[in-house]
Amino acid sequence: MKYRIYYFSATGNTQKAVELITERLKKEGHEIELLRINRKSQPLPGTPDRMIFAFPTLSWVPPILVQRFVRRLPHGKKEDGSRIKTAVITADGGGGLQSPDHLKRMLTRRGYDVFLSARASYPDNWLQFVPGPDEKHKQEAIANGEKMTGEFIEKLIKEEREYYKVPFIHVLWSRLVGALFAILGRRFMGKMFIADESCTSCRLCERSCPVKAIDIAKRKKARPYWKINCESCNRCINICPEKAIVSSNMRIGVLVVAITATIIIALGLYNGNIKPWLMETIPDPFFWFANTLLVTIVVLFSHWFAIGPFDRFFLRYFQRIPGISKVFEKGFNKKFLRYTMTGYKAPREDL
Ligand SMILES: Cc1cc2nc3c(=O)[nH]c(=O)nc-3n(C[C@H](O)[C@H](O)[C@H](O)COP(=O)(O)O)c2cc1C
Ligand code: SF4
Ligand code: SF4
Repeated sequence: MKYRIYYFSATGNTQKAVELITERLKKEGHEIELLRINRKSQPLPGTPDRMIFAFPTLSWVPPILVQRFVRRLPHGKKEDGSRIKTAVITADGGGGLQSPDHLKRMLTRRGYDVFLSARASYPDNWLQFVPGPDEKHKQEAIANGEKMTGEFIEKLIKEEREYYKVPFIHVLWSRLVGALFAILGRRFMGKMFIADESCTSCRLCERSCPVKAIDIAKRKKARPYWKINCESCNRCINICPEKAIVSSNMRIGVLVVAITATIIIALGLYNGNIKPWLMETIPDPFFWFANTLLVTIVVLFSHWFAIGPFDRFFLRYFQRIPGISKVFEKGFNKKFLRYTMTGYKAPREDL
């Protein structure tokens, strides 16, 4: 049988799970096609007998680049009218909530027959807020992840129909948090990053970013700049050989102030100029909807303005001024242990 595995892994946990799956399927005599997902990946040609999706959970949802990839897939119905049987596994850090179910729903809508969804709990790589584990806890968590992946593999081979489900209330709020993460959170968290003076301009972070969210100027000793399209996968902060990447306390503060100030100014302009006109022209029940929609747009615009043009054309240069740069390079997670799966080598993403 021909299995096709599409996967994304930031720090090696999902990759490890995929290696275990591949090894076992090969032992059973199956043929495997593998594709690592990045910003530019396109679905492989032809129709496999079985498909597997593997990915980390980011804020209770599959990574946005994985979700975008699923939208590029052809329909899951085969020529004979049957649907491609598909399994989903997420490598999380202890609480994936509705993440496997989220991808299952997306794939089902595209016509795939998802027969198995599961999670495997590996070490947490969210270095922006959670310190990486020490060696003992790392090995324990990896062993746990491998055990859960092993259980997934057994069900996969027996083609057991089983879904990882969470109560509806968790689906509701974790979808809400996931949506906020997708629109605002991941971008803001990318904007927290800075490389401090230990950066050697080796460009590893730039080359390994799966969505090309890092730019390093061509000049000598240039440091990385994080663009607005970060997935917040935390690969860069975990793999930097110098541990130079930190979440800048000062950048967080300045960006929060910039967002708040822009919201206050933009809402002031809206309330003074547009809202009175809306009240006069739109009847009452519709006014509430129009007002809520416009206030939401104002808030989203303010967020975009602060982490977009304000950062790109002002803050990124301001933070480099000698003397000031020292303050910006201080990050609360500097001393956190970094995490990558044992033996993991970050891929060079050709984008
Ligand atoms: C931004 C971010 C958000 C995360 N959110 C969750 C989460 O909601 N639940 C969870 O269990 N783990 C979460 N994690 C941890 C990762 O899912 C976990 O470490 C995963 O195994 C990493 O897999 P990888 O090494 O293949 O990238 C998060 C990690 C990051 C970077
Ligand atoms: S990987 Fe680290 S040292 Fe290399 S360029 Fe990026 S921040 Fe600098
Ligand atoms: S900038 Fe870092 S955290 Fe953001 S997508 Fe690229 S590698 Fe991941």
